[in-house]
This record gives sequence, C-alpha cells and structure tokens, in this order.
Amino acid sequence: MKFLLDTKHLWILLALLVLGGVAAWEARSWMVPDTYGDLMGRYGPYRAAALEQIAARPSVIIADSVCHECHQDVEEERTDSKHATVRCIHCHGLARKHVAQAQAAAKSPDATIAPAQEWDGDPLTKIDLYITQDRATCLVCHEENVGMPEWFQKINVEEHLDDQGAEEPDSKETCFECHGGHDTAP
Ligand code: HEC
Ligand code: HEC
Ligand code: HEC
Ligand code: HEC
Repeated sequence: MKFLLDTKHLWILLALLVLGGVAAWEARSWMVPDTYGDLMGRYGPYRAAALEQIAARPSVIIADSVCHECHQDVEEERTDSKHATVRCIHCHGLARKHVAQAQAAAKSPDATIAPAQEWDGDPLTKIDLYITQDRATCLVCHEENVGMPEWFQKINVEEHLDDQGAEEPDSKETCFECHGGHDTAP
C-alpha cells in the first residue's frame, strides 16, 4: 500500500502516457488515408490506391483515329511520313470542343464549327483548336539538347538553317520554307 502511495504520481504519469499514445494512434489512423504505404511498404510514403484511381480516369486526349474519321486527307498525307506517329494534339491542341462541335454539325445543319485560332505560344495552351507555323511547335521535339538519343533526328537550329540556306532564318515560320506540317520530308 505504501509503495503504491509513494509512486502515485508515477502511475498517473504512466496512465497519461498510455492515453496519449492511444489518442495519437487513433488520430493517425483517422488522418492517414486508406492504402497509404500498402504492399508492405513497396510504394513507401505513398497512397497505393492513387495509381489505380488515376489510371481509371477517362483520358482527356482524343485518339488520332477519331480525327481521321473526318480528316482522311490528313491521314493520307501523313501515312508515309515519319510523322505518322506524331499525334495531332502536338500541333493543333486538344480539340475536344472541336470534335464535339463537328460531331454535332454532322447531325444538324444548324450547328457551327468554330474556326481554328492562332496559337498563343504556350505548349500547354487552353486554346482548343489552333493552326500554327511557329517553329516553337517543332523545336519542342527537334532542338538538339544533351541526353537526346543518338538516333533521334535532331537539329542545331542555327547550323541547320545556315547549312540548308534558309531565306529568313529569323522568321518564326522559317521551318515551313522547306518542311510541311503533315509530310515533313524536305
Ligand atoms: C466529326 C468530324 C470531325 C472530327 C472527328 C474532327 N474534325 Fe476537324 N474539322 C471538321 C470540319 C467539318 C472542319 C471545318 C471544315 C474544314 O475546314 O475542313 C474541321 C476543321 C479542322 C481544322 C481547321 C481547318 C482550317 O482550315 O481551319 C483543324 C486543324 C482540325 N479540324 C483538326 C482536327 C483534329 C486535330 C481532330 C481530332 C482531335 C479533328 N479535327 C476531328 C470535322 C471534324
Ligand atoms: C507537326 C505538326 C502537325 C501535326 C502533328 C499535325 N498537323 Fe495538321 N497542320 C499543321 C500545320 C503546320 C498546318 C498548316 C498547313 C501547313 O502549313 O502545312 C496544318 C493544317 C491542318 C489542317 C488544315 C487543312 C490542311 O490540310 O492544311 C487540318 C484539318 C489538320 N492540319 C488536321 C490535322 C490532323 C487531323 C492531324 C492528326 C491526324 C494533324 N493535323 C497533325 C501541323 C501539324
Ligand atoms: C511530338 C514530337 C514532334 C514534333 C512536335 C515534331 N516532330 Fe518532327 N519528328 C518527330 C519524330 C518522332 C520523327 C521521326 C524520328 C525518327 O524516326 O528518327 C520526326 C521526324 C521529322 C523529320 C525527318 C523527316 C524525314 O523524312 O527524315 C523532319 C524534317 C521533321 N520531323 C520536321 C518537323 C517539323 C518541321 C515540325 C514542326 C512543324 C516537327 N517536326 C514537329 C517528332 C516530332
Ligand atoms: C532551307 C530549307 C530548310 C529549312 C528552312 C529547314 N530545313 Fe530542316 N531539313 C532540310 C533538308 C534539305 C533536310 C535533309 C537534310 C539531310 O538529310 O541531310 C532537313 C532535315 C531536317 C531534319 C532531320 C535531321 C536529321 O537528323 O535527319 C529535321 C528534324 C529538320 N530538318 C527540322 C527542321 C526544323 C525544326 C526547321 C525550322 C527550325 C527546319 N528543319 C528548317 C531543309 C530545311
């Protein structure tokens, strides 16, 4: 009895520590989302279910095959070009509204299709549909930089324009003196 009385404050402290621990554990399991660090920590500090959830989202990118349904001429132009696999969105925008409008117009004569706009120079632009001959659209893929694979067809812009004898090397549209947007072969 004397022992218990003498150590009373220690028991209280111990009880508080245990309570605090339980409360912290409860709070943790309440705040940390399900599947966090799942698969025996294979994903580390990461919510395992996030991957499946992201994969299940509908794609915002429309397949080129959808564009081909109405733009067969472009499909043909690109068939034998090395650009056959370069997707339309790289040079024309996501075109989601455009496809919706064009599909509506195919059904109803009253529906209109908005014309393509000028590009604003932003690769992640919000413009739905544009046509541009700005070299910046080409150079995101073709401008030589460290780390590009040996086999990829890249250019040192200044040297290339000089070697090929571009008439207006300073113009934004200079690439189109010699290359097309669809069939790019010089
Ligand atoms: C349901 C048919 C349809 C689909 C699908 C479609 N388009 Fe179109 N598109 C049209 C029509 C019709 C026009 C306007 C007439 C024209 O200029 O050819 C047009 C115009 C365009 C223009 C502007 C042409 C200009 O001279 O102003 C571009 C660029 C374009 N489409 C790209 C695309 C891309 C990229 C896709 C796929 C993401 C696509 N289209 C899907 C029917 C379609
Ligand atoms: C590498 C860039 C690039 C890609 C990829 C590309 N285009 Fe184009 N497109 C252009 C350019 C540039 C023009 C303007 C005409 C020109 O200068 O050749 C154009 C013009 C057009 C036009 C206007 C009419 C015409 O034929 O000139 C349509 C429609 C079109 N593109 C549809 C498409 C579709 C559909 C795809 C995918 C199947 C596509 N484009 C892929 C660069 C591209
Ligand atoms: C999304 C990336 C991408 C964009 C944007 C792009 N290209 Fe290409 N380009 C490619 C790929 C991929 C190849 C094929 C490379 C290979 O097979 O070695 C290619 C090949 C080429 C070739 C070689 C053609 C041949 O027959 O040897 C030329 C020229 C070219 N592109 C010009 C352009 C021009 C001009 C533009 C802008 C209108 C452009 N590219 C935009 C990816 C791109
Ligand atoms: C005055 C004409 C001319 C202009 C302007 C021009 N090119 Fe070319 N380009 C050519 C010719 C010709 C070839 C083929 C050269 C060869 O095979 O050696 C070529 C080849 C290429 C290739 C393939 C290189 C390789 O390694 O096979 C790419 C990519 C390319 N050009 C992109 C562009 C881009 C992007 C622009 C604009 C910044 C541009 N070109 C401007 C004439 C031109």
